[in-house]
Amino acid sequence: MSTPPGLDDLLTLLRFPSVSTNPANIGDVRDCASWLMAKLRSIGLSAEIRETPGHPVVLARNVHQAGRRTVMLYAHYDVQPAEPLNEWLSPAFEPTIRDGRIYCRGATDNKGQLMGHLRGLEELLAEGDLPVNLIFLIEGEEEIGSPNLKPFLEQYREELKCDMVAISDTGMVGPGLGTFTYGLRGIACMEVRVKGPTIDLHSGIFGGAVMNPNTAVARLAATLHDDEGRVAIAGFYDDVLPLQTWERQAWEGLGDSSAETLTLTGSPELFGEVGYTDMERRWGRPTAEINGIGGGYQGAGSKTVIPREAMMKLSFRLVPGQDPDKIMALAEAHLNAHCPKGVRLEIIHGHVGMPYVTDPHSAFGAAAQRALTATFGGKVALIREGGSIPIVQAFKDVLGVETLLLGLALPDCQAHAPNENYPIANFEAGVKLNKALLAELAEN
Ligand code: BES
Ligand code: ZN
Repeated sequence: MSTPPGLDDLLTLLRFPSVSTNPANIGDVRDCASWLMAKLRSIGLSAEIRETPGHPVVLARNVHQAGRRTVMLYAHYDVQPAEPLNEWLSPAFEPTIRDGRIYCRGATDNKGQLMGHLRGLEELLAEGDLPVNLIFLIEGEEEIGSPNLKPFLEQYREELKCDMVAISDTGMVGPGLGTFTYGLRGIACMEVRVKGPTIDLHSGIFGGAVMNPNTAVARLAATLHDDEGRVAIAGFYDDVLPLQTWERQAWEGLGDSSAETLTLTGSPELFGEVGYTDMERRWGRPTAEINGIGGGYQGAGSKTVIPREAMMKLSFRLVPGQDPDKIMALAEAHLNAHCPKGVRLEIIHGHVGMPYVTDPHSAFGAAAQRALTATFGGKVALIREGGSIPIVQAFKDVLGVETLLLGLALPDCQAHAPNENYPIANFEAGVKLNKALLAELAEN
């Protein structure tokens, strides 16, 4: 099979271990940004690195002309950690092609999709001019909640003025099925430290006389849900905008996803909030998840100890209407109210991101869907997604513009997991989609 143009550049980009959360990778993240800047300059755009208090932003543009639409493309060059490394079939940062897919951390999230934009721009520029005024903003902190990007948008508000934002960082419902995502869940993360005695204790000498922090964390964790999969925090659902009839019907029209979810997850059985379908649970309903939990002895054999501390890491996925800061306050009040006697809690707030929903039938939404049809043929699936892109609502709040989400990840691309992969066919489709999108947005 011949390699498609631009694939080499994608492989080069993938070799940078641009893990934003790990301080050990700070130089790799910057090298990745520098490579992107040089590449963007080489295709004829002006490009620069803009500093933030964290990882840098890469910002590129063409020469803007009066009377043309200004389109902002957004992508992220940072990736999630690759661990557990021993579960990768090929090295996590050495892109390896098997059966038409590129295996590498970041292949689908988000470098493969980013390079669809970039290669599309390269081809358009080689053929002549872009049909629009372009701002290409590529950040290095999406996977840590974009903590510095909203202030960045505020700082450069004038320069970043645009008519809309387009992003390829979401999924497709299946191979070859053009998918327009009109909503994302938001997120609120926190860490709970449960503190008991000031030192680890012999469980024979002191057991029975003090509250064990491990027991306390388990009891707290168990208060988060009721038996029917609902979140049991008072007020949690107060601001939730209910799913609309048209969207429930549109999703139902895509078929029942339960069997696929069962296969993809490998879980023995699905479990979730009663009264909602699999898609509704994942795309349109809020959740509370325990992402990490621990305390005490985890080594070989047994150790008779009462640990002085236990912990859990929580994240809440939020839907339109809910406010991450309010949910954080409700969760904190819930945890304090349910805290067992004999321990005290220390609650550390982590990153937050607003949920997002836009009208898929707006003029720009319709233009995006025409670009999807031009690329994939057939009907376009209108969906929301359960993942979060924290900056999207800030594009609306700071720049006053809507975001079009035209994702190219497949359900089995294993984003954030070992053996993350991206089909070469999707990379090629991304190039085509990006060119079609700019043409549609120029005219509509
Ligand atoms: N590309 C994802 C977002 C996404 C995933 C959208 C799946 C739709 C479907 C993005 O890179 C991501 O992983 N975001 C994080 C944000 C968090 C770290 C603040 C997420 O959703 O966990
Ligand atoms: Zn991600």
